[in-house]
Amino acid sequence: MATGLQVPLPQLATGLLLLLSVLPWTESGKVLVVPTDGSHWLSMREAVRELHAKGHQAVVLTPEVNMHIKEENFFTLTTYAIPWTQDEFDRLVLGHTQWFFETEHLLKRYSRSMAIMNNMSLVIHRSCVELLHNEALIRHLNATSFDVVLTDPFYLCGAVLAKYLSIPAVFFLRNVPCDLDFKGTQCPNPYSYIPKFLTTNSDHMTFLQRVKNMLYPLALSYICHAVSAPYASLASELFEREVSVVDLLSHASVWLFRGDFVMDYPRPIMPNMVFIGGINCANRKPLSREFEAYINASGEHGIVVFSLGSMVAEIPEKKAMAIADALGKIPQTVLWRYTGTPPSNLANNTILVKWLPQNDLLGHPMTRAFITHAGSHGIYEGICNGVPMVMMPLFGDQMDNAKRMETKGAGVTLNVLEMTSEDLENALKAVINDKSYKENIMHLSSLHKDRPVEPLDLAVFWVEFVMRHKGAPHLRPAAHDLTWYQYHSLDVIGFLLAIVLTVAFIAFKCCAYGYRKCFGKKGRVKKAHKSKTH
Ligand SMILES: *[C@@H]1O[C@H](CO)[C@@H](O)[C@H](O)[C@H]1NC(C)=O
Ligand SMILES: *[C@@H]1O[C@H](CO)[C@@H](O)[C@H](O)[C@H]1NC(C)=O
Ligand SMILES: *[C@@H]1O[C@H](CO)[C@@H](O)[C@H](O)[C@H]1NC(C)=O
Ligand SMILES: *[C@@H]1O[C@H](CO)[C@@H](O)[C@H](O)[C@H]1NC(C)=O
Repeated sequence: MATGLQVPLPQLATGLLLLLSVLPWTESGKVLVVPTDGSHWLSMREAVRELHAKGHQAVVLTPEVNMHIKEENFFTLTTYAIPWTQDEFDRLVLGHTQWFFETEHLLKRYSRSMAIMNNMSLVIHRSCVELLHNEALIRHLNATSFDVVLTDPFYLCGAVLAKYLSIPAVFFLRNVPCDLDFKGTQCPNPYSYIPKFLTTNSDHMTFLQRVKNMLYPLALSYICHAVSAPYASLASELFEREVSVVDLLSHASVWLFRGDFVMDYPRPIMPNMVFIGGINCANRKPLSREFEAYINASGEHGIVVFSLGSMVAEIPEKKAMAIADALGKIPQTVLWRYTGTPPSNLANNTILVKWLPQNDLLGHPMTRAFITHAGSHGIYEGICNGVPMVMMPLFGDQMDNAKRMETKGAGVTLNVLEMTSEDLENALKAVINDKSYKENIMHLSSLHKDRPVEPLDLAVFWVEFVMRHKGAPHLRPAAHDLTWYQYHSLDVIGFLLAIVLTVAFIAFKCCAYGYRKCFGKKGRVKKAHKSKTH
């Protein structure tokens, strides 16, 4: 090893020069970033930070009223007006989290969630209209000649804008609801072993689960259409021709999926799909003195990290008290990110904080368990730090994420509506004291981290790749250019079937003719004979 250091200086210099000359493209590129607000932005932000560190300029485009997208020193923030004040916006988008914890009739729950979704998608769609009809801004963006659009297609506006300005796009996403990601990539998507959104099926399904797997997407298709169709009509109006949602999505050159096959089940992929699950674990800082002190004070028992994500501000009092009661019954110190009114029965081992450095705390060896709403970011932080989880999924893909971790033996899922204080206490004691949970999550962690390239580097590489080559048409499967009947070869099957039928028909006719020739005469002879004898 020591000999390796004794390289003569000139040789070292040539080595360095060589290294510099093979370093990929260092020219500065221009990246237009159209994020999805909320937690989605938090991991994309790390990719933008890294692109900036590589010498590229990033412009982040967002409504002036938003949740998490604020000015930072590694990008230029460009905002546009929307017709809501911050207060109105918060009420429309965030004013509903109490509802996650309320038990009510299924139909009432359904109609309420529909109303909330309508309001949310109205706000989001309206902000897209404001952006695309802002002529001065569009002219400015067009004149800037960006090399690539980096966008999360959960907010379809970025896809519309990229196509409108004819800029290659890189999508950065967990998924697009209603399997639009499969349609946009033309990736095969069999119902038989790919579990669908909200079913909580695994990839091994019984017959009835496969029935459910096929029915759920059908039931959701109405909502899917209602949410996505307005973007297609907006695009059709701009481009002055018929454009579908799938057309918008298939504009993407490369798709960066925030997943991998440690959390997700194995399935078919396409050449332009890249998996960057765990990208949010890269942002690692030393703990502040405040949090270090909590951990030091916890002694041999260690700590439990508890967060239900940035969307949940307040939990109804009764539920909060049940939770506080359970937390008080374990010997660990609990750090709970909670901004609502503190429950009156809060035990002295539970510390409420307005914010916590989740990934850094989970990375500490004294952290024994993680109570999470099972959002994909949290799950990945649990996986990469090897911390067993107690999961309380609230909405969206969280039930599916939680189910995946539970089937792998890495945590326990609780139904937040039905759980009692004892359920939470038992779940916590199980994941902390039963060694199998720790062993299973450590196994997942070692699989997840055994990779040739870090997910953040992979994401940056592909954005640079698309900038260097102005897209990636060589990765685009020809499936995009086929009609549905060509894709399934129905025209060919029909053609071949027609030939077979024609041949069969001709053969039949020939046989029938032959039959008549051979036996038809006999019949006539017989008849003739008969008539003669008569
Ligand atoms: C939706 O928004 C309207 C006003 O814009 C409001 O009156 C209504 O209560 C909202 N619905 C829900 C479920 O938040
Ligand atoms: C962008 O600019 C080009 C060239 O100046 C022009 O042809 C094109 O129509 C513009 N696109 C939009 C969306 O304004
Ligand atoms: C916590 O304990 C470590 C190791 O004993 C020590 O280095 C550190 O200064 C302590 N931190 C605080 C804030 O007390
Ligand atoms: C916390 O409360 C328990 C009893 O409820 C008590 O035994 C313990 O000493 C208290 N710990 C601290 C640090 O105050």
